Amino acid sequence: MLLPTETVYGLGADAANPAAVAAIFEAKGRPRFNPLIAHVHDAETAARIAVFDDRARALAAAFWPGPLTIVAPIRDVAAVCDLARAGLDTVAIRVPGHPLSRAVLAAFGGPVVAPSANRSGRPSPTTFADAFAETGDKAAAAALDGGPCAVGLESTVVAVLDGPVRLLRPGAVTRAQLEAVVGPLAPADGDAKRSPGRLALHYAPDAPVRIEATAPREGEAFLAFGPWPTGEGVFNLSPSGDLAEAAAKLFAYLRAADRTRPVGIAVASIPDEGLGEAINDRLRRAAGFVG
Ligand code: TXA
Ligand code: MG
Repeated sequence: MLLPTETVYGLGADAANPAAVAAIFEAKGRPRFNPLIAHVHDAETAARIAVFDDRARALAAAFWPGPLTIVAPIRDVAAVCDLARAGLDTVAIRVPGHPLSRAVLAAFGGPVVAPSANRSGRPSPTTFADAFAETGDKAAAAALDGGPCAVGLESTVVAVLDGPVRLLRPGAVTRAQLEAVVGPLAPADGDAKRSPGRLALHYAPDAPVRIEATAPREGEAFLAFGPWPTGEGVFNLSPSGDLAEAAAKLFAYLRAADRTRPVGIAVASIPDEGLGEAINDRLRRAAGFVG
């Protein structure tokens, strides 16, 4: 089913059902070594499925429901099937904040795996129309319209295993917010196996993306940030320079720019602080720079 969350639209399936999970990988064209996030209704359910230490519990208390995913050792291997975990002995879990996903999870009771509802490698959908265009034909048994996603960027993914908490994917919960709860984070670098999904080119529209542009070149669409004259092919992520607004609009504007069939999409520099870390992570990947 198409499932709205506060971050991006997900393509959801019963995490315990390998056939349903296989259909999700199929619909997205997703490599099977890339594990899925299990969504649950509350932290108690999460702690029955995974082994949560004090740090995981503190993070859950601080940020759930909300855009944080915690990777922890798997406890209940049947609840989130092997295929969903790509055979790993860890599981990624989050409690989303969107009222529609919360209602579905409360009614269903068990974990629902939901990758972003894009086809593999493409920008995540943040509106119902974009989600339906990506995978709606595959998910049409149930497609819930929850309006535009308030956050617009995927959840932050952290690993709470041995050693310091590791940031695997920057996202809507910022580094500073995490460090206020668990102290300094270890970077994901050199530990790519722990976050298999970080290896691939990702979030890419059809047109080539050029980042840190000061102005568009002939034929390019332009994603501006801050004051910029309006005009054809100009999509301003935030005229006032607000990072939360830019995050919420990023994927929708990449798609909208793409629909004008430009020779390329130029994107203005975004400050690398707070939410900007996650925005720049997605832009670098959309531009084909991994890491
Ligand atoms: O905001 C979100 O997280 C959205 C909404 C729908 O909840 N979901 C999402 O899922 O972004 P997806 O599948 O596009 O990204 C999941 C990320 C991938 O980078 C994957 O490799 C990583 O989480 N992941 C999942 N399980 C993992 C595990 N056991 N260890 C390390 N990384 C894991
Ligand atoms: Mg994704």
